[in-house]
Amino acid sequence: MILEMKGITKYFGPVKALDDVNFTVGDSEIHGLLGENGAGKSTLMNILGGALQPTEGQIVIDGQVIEEMTIHRSNELGIRFIHQELNLVNDLMVYENLFLGQEINNRAGFLDRKQMIARSREVLSRIKLDINPLELVDNLEPSRKQLVEIAKALLYESKLIIMDEPTTSLTNKEVDILFDIMRSLKAHGLSIIFISHKMPELFTICDKYTVLRDGRFIESGYFKDIDEQKATNMLVGRSIVDSQLVKEDVRGEVVLSVQNLTCKGHFEGISFDLQRGEVLAITGLHGDGRGELSEALFGARRLDAGTIVLNGTKLNLHNIRQVMKAGVGMVPRNRKERSIIKDLSILNNLSIAYFISKHDKVFISRREELERFKRNQKVTNIRVNDVDDYITSLSGGNQQKVIVSRWLELDSDIYILDNPTQGIDVGAKFEIYKLINELARRGKSVVIFSSEFPEIYKIADRCLVMYEGRINAELDRDHLTEVNVMYYATGSNMEGINGKNHQSV
Ligand SMILES: Nc1ncnc2c1ncn2[C@@H]1O[C@H](COP(=O)(O)OP(=O)(O)O)[C@@H](O)[C@H]1O
Ligand SMILES: [Mg+2]
Repeated sequence: MILEMKGITKYFGPVKALDDVNFTVGDSEIHGLLGENGAGKSTLMNILGGALQPTEGQIVIDGQVIEEMTIHRSNELGIRFIHQELNLVNDLMVYENLFLGQEINNRAGFLDRKQMIARSREVLSRIKLDINPLELVDNLEPSRKQLVEIAKALLYESKLIIMDEPTTSLTNKEVDILFDIMRSLKAHGLSIIFISHKMPELFTICDKYTVLRDGRFIESGYFKDIDEQKATNMLVGRSIVDSQLVKEDVRGEVVLSVQNLTCKGHFEGISFDLQRGEVLAITGLHGDGRGELSEALFGARRLDAGTIVLNGTKLNLHNIRQVMKAGVGMVPRNRKERSIIKDLSILNNLSIAYFISKHDKVFISRREELERFKRNQKVTNIRVNDVDDYITSLSGGNQQKVIVSRWLELDSDIYILDNPTQGIDVGAKFEIYKLINELARRGKSVVIFSSEFPEIYKIADRCLVMYEGRINAELDRDHLTEVNVMYYATGSNMEGINGKNHQSV
């Protein structure tokens, strides 16, 4: 199939998601579609799949203008969309899922189970998938579900297959299987659009690339003519240099040493030191194992290997309370689910960690609680009407300040903050940055997990970049640029695992 999308513009209300984009895919071609989060990749593919109508522009297939692309029409044309989110029904068997909506009937008009099961066997074995068609989808590993999705796309005659980040949940072995399938499809004349942020995969499997940035077409060409650095530069573009908060370098001796932390299937061989007065950022893209690593650092996840040494003492990672007492405070991600206690007041939410770990009296003194609140209010600038209101009555930014205050009260030596500014407004973000700076100035050490480059740039002394569960690079301030972060976060130069890529590029 020869696909041409011409001058595609798409508005969502006032938001211009796509701006005059041209996109062409040839016969027997695997085409990588690249772009940062929000660049417009999924929107463009949804327009191709008929799920969205473009505000302007034209789709031309094999020289023929498609007047109105609908989901039905795109199916008819042989376009198959394998979505990022899985679309399988857990309560149905594999073969039922494969034929969902396209069931085969026998002559008497009943479902022809036999034939559907046989055809399922055929397609599963064609892609070397050892799955019983009669297995309940619910019993499959997420990665196997992803492969069933792919099998579903192959069941019907297809001409163009769209894969939106299909490898996120796959193991290395399964990625190899997927790539074999893709090569064989290509040999049979199919075209594939492959969306991924993993450079090694893109360079391995794709012939051509198209880069989108901020809804605009940037460049198209052959992967053989570019390298990972060039691809990264196109993704990021020339970004405006954000202002750094002025933070003195007050780093002292090592206070926390993490060695070879491993949690199978999530991260492996993670080692780093944290110094007194240091703000260390850990970043990466979706699927990098960062979330699991942060949980492990707080003792909330089983480890297969590794040690954590705090001020010379080895920690017992399976006892959160002990870790807290040892001086590690944590602000988890997803404030709503993990941190705030909805049924407690603002005041109680602030004091709770203190009472769990330090309080040794029987009664809680309201006077002390109020003093504690006032002290924190001054530092973090929490805005409230009444401290006895439920915490849920506060804005997100103020809730987060209560959570941060909770840990400040513990006067920890080390803070682990997982996306502490997620979902809060710019003003509140800035106050939390100032607070982190202030902590470091007072000789505290901070590990901050973040996916926002401008934030990291503002506060970090050093940044570790993860890719597929490993640390791919360590960047100091002089090398902390968005292009460098993106280069390593997309898996470029992966041979330098854990230490080789120090401050390079
Ligand atoms: N249904 C929608 N309503 C409003 N805005 C949307 C919608 N879908 C996407 N957008 C916006 O369009 C832009 C492109 O998004 P998307 O196509 O999902 O990017 P990508 O897949 O490259 O990450 C983003 O700014 C996103 O917020
Ligand atoms: Mg997307």
